[in-house]
Amino acid sequence: MLIRHRCQFFLVFCENGQVRDFKQGILAATAGVMLVCGLVWTIGCEVPAQPKPLNELNKHELLGRTVFQGRCGVCHNDRKAEALHGPALVGVFKKPALPSGAAATDERVTATIHNGHGLMPPLGDTVDPEDLQDLLAYLHTL
Ligand code: HEC
Repeated sequence: MLIRHRCQFFLVFCENGQVRDFKQGILAATAGVMLVCGLVWTIGCEVPAQPKPLNELNKHELLGRTVFQGRCGVCHNDRKAEALHGPALVGVFKKPALPSGAAATDERVTATIHNGHGLMPPLGDTVDPEDLQDLLAYLHTL
């Protein structure tokens, strides 16, 4: 009776052992995946693209900054990530998409300026075309 009991115990142990190995395998694989993801995430976060230093801006970019300060700065931050009335525009062209999810392209940003977007009022044609080019040049340095 006792012997049979022990055999049964041994069998159960063997089976459990296999289950345990399997579980450990899954656990190790999960840990591995998490480690790799964590690493990618950390590296991705540790090196945020910095705006081009002000003293390195060319003439057009500097003019664009003045346009920004006159037309956008009241609602948008350009060199820091905090939102104002609208989202911060730091890194606007370096990110894969605009806050709305639209592609971060010159065309789309120009359309946003002309037509407005949600709570952002349309500026229509009140931005001089040359100023607009300078503004876009500046936004690309952020
Ligand atoms: C009166 C305030 C105001 C001004 C001035 C303003 N914006 Fe905005 N802007 C906003 C707000 C608010 C939003 C967010 C709109 C929303 O999602 O409802 C926004 C959104 C945006 C977006 C994101 C659009 C998207 O698709 O996610 C861009 C780009 C932008 N503005 C650029 C500019 C530029 C460049 C200027 C200057 C020419 C400017 N804005 C002037 C308030 C303003």
